[in-house]
Amino acid sequence: MRDITFDNITETVIQAYSGAQDARSGEILALLIQRLHDFVREANLTPLEWEAAMGILARAAASTDGERNEFILLSDLLGVSALVDLLDGQQDQKASITTLMGPFYVPETPVLENGSDLTGDNDGERIVVYGQIRDSADKPLSGAQIEVWQNAPSGLYAVQDPSQPEHNLRGTLHADENGNYAFATAKPMSYKVPEDGAGGELVRAGGRHCWRPAHIHIMVTAEGCKRHISQIFDLNDPYIDEDAVFGVRGPLAVPYDQQPGEEELARFANIQRPFNIASVDFVLAPA
Ligand SMILES: [Fe+2]
Repeated sequence: MRDITFDNITETVIQAYSGAQDARSGEILALLIQRLHDFVREANLTPLEWEAAMGILARAAASTDGERNEFILLSDLLGVSALVDLLDGQQDQKASITTLMGPFYVPETPVLENGSDLTGDNDGERIVVYGQIRDSADKPLSGAQIEVWQNAPSGLYAVQDPSQPEHNLRGTLHADENGNYAFATAKPMSYKVPEDGAGGELVRAGGRHCWRPAHIHIMVTAEGCKRHISQIFDLNDPYIDEDAVFGVRGPLAVPYDQQPGEEELARFANIQRPFNIASVDFVLAPA
């Protein structure tokens, strides 16, 4: 096509990409081109505004390396990561709701006994998190693997802070024969996602902030089930209704200040007192 015009450019570009070998890639590309072009038309985008957008992407690339991915942060801050996760969960109606994995997951953390206390030398209040892991037919998932990670009272994750022990406040446990899991930990803190890069620019441009409410990350894996990614939020956190990355889900927000009753004090007799309790069950979707 030689005579490209305002009216034919979108169709021309879509046609140019119509030879995709993979049908799904072809479908996604055609939709992306159509929507991008529609966006430019509808926003009446000027060359200077487009240049500014490219500048944000260039700065995102500049701060992306093996440790940090600013594009994931942009996706999170625009709610796209949350939307992709919610869309994925649409088909898992009988399973617990999932949420974002976030950037601080570390695979192969030390295997701890179910019921362990991760608190170590961390300050702050202690909380015992416990519950049951089941499949969507309500069968307890004996031996399900539970990976836990969270930030320290300083607000930083171990991966962000060389002064913390390598595996501070993270570990891997396995549910017992009835699918029950438990661990004690120091209460996590609200924290800001990085605001010194393109993500920060975006947030400031939109009159928002970078805070996330306190949460404990949990990933559950069990044979025959879909990998289940979750976060347990402090219901009373000041940022619970304004998570910078739109990760909070109603059923995953629980109070962190519940006192244990006699039953919990007996069940968690090995945990140093005082501690609060939070109970969350996880129902996994089939693989
Ligand atoms: Fe987090």
